Amino acid sequence: MAKSAPFAWMNGSLVPWEQATLHIATECVLRGENVFEGERAYWSEEEQELFMFRHAEHIARLRQGAKIMRMTIPYTDAEIEAACIELIRACGYRGSVHFRPVVYFDQGELTDYLPEEIRTGMFILAFSKPTTKAVHQGVRSCVSTWRRNSDLASPSRIKAGSNYHNSRLAYIDARLNGFQIPILLNEAGKVAEGPGACFMMVRGGKLITPPVTADILESITRDTLIELARAELGLEVIERDVDRTELYICDEAFFCGSGHEVTPIVSVDHYDVGDGKPGPLTRRIQSLYFDVVSGRVPRYRHWLTPVYGAAKAQAAE
Ligand SMILES: Cc1ncc(COP(=O)(O)O)c(C=O)c1O
Repeated sequence: MAKSAPFAWMNGSLVPWEQATLHIATECVLRGENVFEGERAYWSEEEQELFMFRHAEHIARLRQGAKIMRMTIPYTDAEIEAACIELIRACGYRGSVHFRPVVYFDQGELTDYLPEEIRTGMFILAFSKPTTKAVHQGVRSCVSTWRRNSDLASPSRIKAGSNYHNSRLAYIDARLNGFQIPILLNEAGKVAEGPGACFMMVRGGKLITPPVTADILESITRDTLIELARAELGLEVIERDVDRTELYICDEAFFCGSGHEVTPIVSVDHYDVGDGKPGPLTRRIQSLYFDVVSGRVPRYRHWLTPVYGAAKAQAAE
């Protein structure tokens, strides 16, 4: 079923959901010409506050995406932050939120326009998004028949909207074959990532994940977990190429991303991962992640931006 919310934010102001529309002649509609972010805000029951997680890093990546795609973002970081807060507040969410700032091209002539020859717009969507069953139970995975799109053809390290045709083909193919979330290999035949999340595995007590040069999105959750695993769990974390057959003999595996959070992988191509249940280290990483994003670990509070508190402070000024 299509998702909806009371409001969206579009080109400078809040608009009722039904009025947040783009013309069919925009490059965004015609060719998927946009870059976007997928962020989360987490509700803290103790503090009665919603926290955006690593918002600054998401906006930094949005700017990198826009730079590579030669787009000019028409708002400052402070304006984008204020817009995200305004939207989430207007929707009144008091639970986990997924929100999506999107920078898009309006109408253009052919596709050879320079950035200054086409209008760039921006909108933000925000949805209520509780943690899924898959995060608790794990998912059955497979090696996709599709390859992750190569950085030689389009920039896999950023969230360009058109990259997600590749993701969708891989998801659908996996579902039709009875799996939940596939793992894509890159053109070199090494493990890249999932269609909407990065990949990590445990072998011999070490956490292993493909490098950022393996045609993966430069994931903020991946970066977060690498830091937490080293600093808080004392794990050795290795960024290296991963072979297909390692998927079949690893002790534990999981996907990580703002949307998929930390989702255990319980089998790959019908081979059980470990004992076919979410692994113990995966569980520890998961629980630490949820503590951090919800504000329960003081050392990582600098990663959080309060939604209602900031707004209260603004109102008091
Ligand atoms: C293709 C892909 N890889 C990885 C990720 C994880 O990135 P992040 O942790 O920044 O959400 C995403 C998230 O949306 C994604 O779409």
